[in-house]
Amino acid sequence: NEPGTIYEAIGGEETIDRLVNAFYKRVGNHPKLIPIFPDDLTEVAKKQYMFLTQFFGGPKLYNEYRGHPMLRRRHLPFEITPERKDAWLECMDEALDEANIEEPYRTAIFERLTMTAHHMMNTP
Ligand code: HEM
Repeated sequence: NEPGTIYEAIGGEETIDRLVNAFYKRVGNHPKLIPIFPDDLTEVAKKQYMFLTQFFGGPKLYNEYRGHPMLRRRHLPFEITPERKDAWLECMDEALDEANIEEPYRTAIFERLTMTAHHMMNTP
């Protein structure tokens, strides 16, 4: 792992694991998100763990498992409206608190995820 990454600064795998668990717990209970997610969130949580690990500068786990992320393309089968984008970010905002991710990393992470989430919208 590269030193000086967000990944290292926030505590690596243990912290990403806490964040991903806190996040999908909320996704699975959010009325706006339930319709597009599978009942069993195990697989998507595993992929998100791998994706966020590399997104924050850790090992390139997602690329090894799934190849190039092409996230917008992978989200096209699901109707991602502005309301669903806000719901996703709301779940993530709360998950960042639950996972106890401290400043300045918390804000940096939320800003990057907000930009990526905007890019995922595909339905008015
Ligand atoms: C997969 C929804 C934003 C990362 C998925 C899936 C859904 C979804 C429904 C597929 C679940 C399945 O496999 O059946 C959303 C919504 C978003 C959003 C509503 C709101 C904007 C994001 C963002 C990221 C992300 C911002 C990255 C930071 C992923 C990843 C996968 C995934 C890595 C797994 C892709 C794969 O390898 O198949 N998302 N997503 N999503 N999402 Fe999102």
